[in-house]
Amino acid sequence: MQALDLIIKKRDGQSLSPEEIQFLIHDYNTGAIPDYQMASLLMAIYFQGLNAKETNALTTALANSGEVLDFSSLDKTVVDKHSSGGVGDKVTLVLTPIIAAAGIPVAKISGRGLGFTGGTIDKLESIPGFNARLSPQRFKEIVQDNNLAIMMQTEGLTPAEGKLYALRDVTGTVENISLIAASIMSKKLAAGTQAILLDIKTGRGAFMESLDDAFNLAEILVRIGKDMDRRVVAVVSDMSQPLGFAVGNALEVIEAVKVLQGHGPWDVERLCVQLAGYMFAMVGKVRNPEEGQEQAEKLLKNGSAYQKLKDTVKAQGGEVAYLENTDLFPKARIIHKVKAKTAGYLCEIDAKRVGRAAVWLGVGRMYKDQQIRPEVGVILNRKIGDSVVKGETLAFVHANDEASLKNAGKELANAFNICGEKVESPHLIYGVVPPFPS
Ligand code: URA
Repeated sequence: MQALDLIIKKRDGQSLSPEEIQFLIHDYNTGAIPDYQMASLLMAIYFQGLNAKETNALTTALANSGEVLDFSSLDKTVVDKHSSGGVGDKVTLVLTPIIAAAGIPVAKISGRGLGFTGGTIDKLESIPGFNARLSPQRFKEIVQDNNLAIMMQTEGLTPAEGKLYALRDVTGTVENISLIAASIMSKKLAAGTQAILLDIKTGRGAFMESLDDAFNLAEILVRIGKDMDRRVVAVVSDMSQPLGFAVGNALEVIEAVKVLQGHGPWDVERLCVQLAGYMFAMVGKVRNPEEGQEQAEKLLKNGSAYQKLKDTVKAQGGEVAYLENTDLFPKARIIHKVKAKTAGYLCEIDAKRVGRAAVWLGVGRMYKDQQIRPEVGVILNRKIGDSVVKGETLAFVHANDEASLKNAGKELANAFNICGEKVESPHLIYGVVPPFPS
């Protein structure tokens, strides 16, 4: 088999066999297929798509590119949660400690920033010392002892997915439904988790902008889960505006800590509580998601979820003092205010533009291995539905230099839309696949 022939085959709209996909992923992983050929294949897939059989084959090839964990020695269901990617999406930092604090083991494989969306690993690495590059053995140990570990793809676990993810990030090939589905599900399969809660984002700050595309992705993910014998529930949630107020690596850790301490933004807290409700119901801990939400609220209020995040950071080598006193995080050199040009009601905050502005500031990457910064980002001061007075601050831009501030400013100049009439804030959740029996 030759990579070039297979690239041409896909470019011309033909299907690849499972053996061909296995060959491509295997040889890319070993380095026998270079980045430029894989980038070309990704672009062909982006335009031609993959059918269900090809998507399953890609998922399996990526999952099997490293070790596949087995938690069957733990006599509990091990769970995982994954987001399809959003702006200001710090849900993992709040939700996984809630679930683990309830005694349910969470084996979480997270990613770095992708395109204009942020990544949990980049956020956690803003805590000095935090080690996301665990060996599969150490990952298992922490899950067993602490009920929660969060790691990234490494040479040990889904290494080919890690390479592909980094390549998609910088080649304009992220927004393909099959590539997203295989990327997410391969990590879940390799982590050996039995119940998986997926948070599928929709809106301007998501890869699936339309509701139809988001539900389509949800169906595909649930189908892959079923084919691979996993329990999967996919919740479709809003990403028309950033989640919470903070967009940035350390800035989002600080906001997540506020939620865990009971004084964070309402939307982040509500979404995490609702997702926890589904997770608790999925594993049979409660009779229905509503009961699960009550449990989640208790675990937030009594501080056990906050304690669980601290225990996790400690187990992974991070300096817990940063979570106890978030003033320790480094600060950006410049804080610039984006002001309202007119009075009225904020009817749109274009999450994609905010995400792109954040990338310009150094939150994410424009080329592979680009150095990112923990302290930069954007903090919104108003959300959709709020009334605004002319000249008031809509957002604070945290920048380290004038050049990145200028580029971020160009994105943000068109990110806020002020209307004459009041609009409602968007729904948090649009639906669940498969429909959840309550
Ligand atoms: N999250 C992932 O892990 N992969 C994607 O492709 C998108 C979101």
